[in-house]
Amino acid sequence: MTTLSRRQSTIGPYSPLFYDEPLEFASASGVWLTDIHGVRYLDGYNNVPQVGHAHPRVVEALSEQASRLNIHTRYLNDRVVEYAERLLALFDSPLDRVMFTNSGSESNDLALRIATQHSGARGILISDFSYHGHTAALAALTTGLAAREGLGAHVRTIRIPDLDGADHGRDPGTVLAESLAEVDAAIASLNEEGHGVAAWLFDSLFSTEGLNRLPEGYVAAVGARVRAAGGLLIADEVQAGFGRTGAHYWGYQLHGLVPDLVTMGKPMGNGHPLGGVVLPAALLDEFGPRNMYFNTFGGNPVSSAVGLAVLDVLRDEDLLARAESTGTAVREQLALLGERFDFIGPPKGAGMFSGFAVSDGAGAPDAARTKRLVESVKADRILISRIGRHDNVLKMRPPLPFGPDEAELLIAALDRALSASS
Ligand SMILES: Cc1ncc(COP(=O)(O)O)c(C=O)c1O
Repeated sequence: MTTLSRRQSTIGPYSPLFYDEPLEFASASGVWLTDIHGVRYLDGYNNVPQVGHAHPRVVEALSEQASRLNIHTRYLNDRVVEYAERLLALFDSPLDRVMFTNSGSESNDLALRIATQHSGARGILISDFSYHGHTAALAALTTGLAAREGLGAHVRTIRIPDLDGADHGRDPGTVLAESLAEVDAAIASLNEEGHGVAAWLFDSLFSTEGLNRLPEGYVAAVGARVRAAGGLLIADEVQAGFGRTGAHYWGYQLHGLVPDLVTMGKPMGNGHPLGGVVLPAALLDEFGPRNMYFNTFGGNPVSSAVGLAVLDVLRDEDLLARAESTGTAVREQLALLGERFDFIGPPKGAGMFSGFAVSDGAGAPDAARTKRLVESVKADRILISRIGRHDNVLKMRPPLPFGPDEAELLIAALDRALSASS
């Protein structure tokens, strides 16, 4: 029996697998993966191994701590406190407390709970094409993936503008005004139906949406409206955090605001399950006495040792600067490809997260062509993927050590794939 058939008869056929012919990897190091047949693939996709696959310092920190002590958080442990201190030093005031979890879903679920209790309201604003996790509370506000629950009565969706997508060619000022009017209407509707406004939960890079290019000031203006209505801003940094945007540690810093709650996951433990919620002391001091928050695995000594090693590597290998320079170079090359292939849109993204929209040549999103591009790039032994409402935005989001040499390989493979697709 193949691994695929064994997987289907145990885990089932419903959890997604990439590619027509799924890949099975045996090992990985840095930005390279090796499959079970010994074939090497360049990783242009994975953001969980943020500092590179199997980074020796992360592996060493994990095994050293695991061989000494791992225990839940009801005992004092200096390593855990050190990690909290180091992590919080990376945030803007007044974000000065952290609650540890094990995943992005758990972090968002906890942040919603805190916002709901703080505001005394239930209403949530959410992008009309987004994903924030799989708990019951999050399934009721999932718009970008199938979820049988459907939207909760307390949820209102807003369309995130995209000056390179649906709003292409339109006056940014008009797009901004229309988008904010939609937010006002959503808030009014929540108030009229007695839900009030608890929070706006948003991905700071709008990655599921397709890396939208926003009108200047959009996020800050929505944030001001939500706060005026009594709600809190929850910045989901599961995708955008830990230096992914190059210029900053946190994606919210691109938007000129400081959110009330920041949620983290994926890259935080470089593959080890580690997540968290960062918030001001005032919010924790309100939530803490009313709720006994205890998380058996969240922020245990091994997770904290791993988290510390990730922060050390980000700093010592200057990976934010690398994300910025390599990401900018990739987008410059994508712009050149755009001059040659009229069916691709302008480069999107920030730092080490790039993409572009693929159309049918007449301007309509072309998901089938985008899928073929992803498969062709795979045939060149490079991993990328696709996102967006129409599944037509190529997604390139490698581990941060991805450098100029790897960028050249990626661009050459894209060039071949685009030429074959013309
Ligand atoms: C923006 C965002 N938030 C939250 C999550 C959920 O994280 P997890 O799968 O760790 O629960 C994801 C996962 O893809 C995500 O992309």
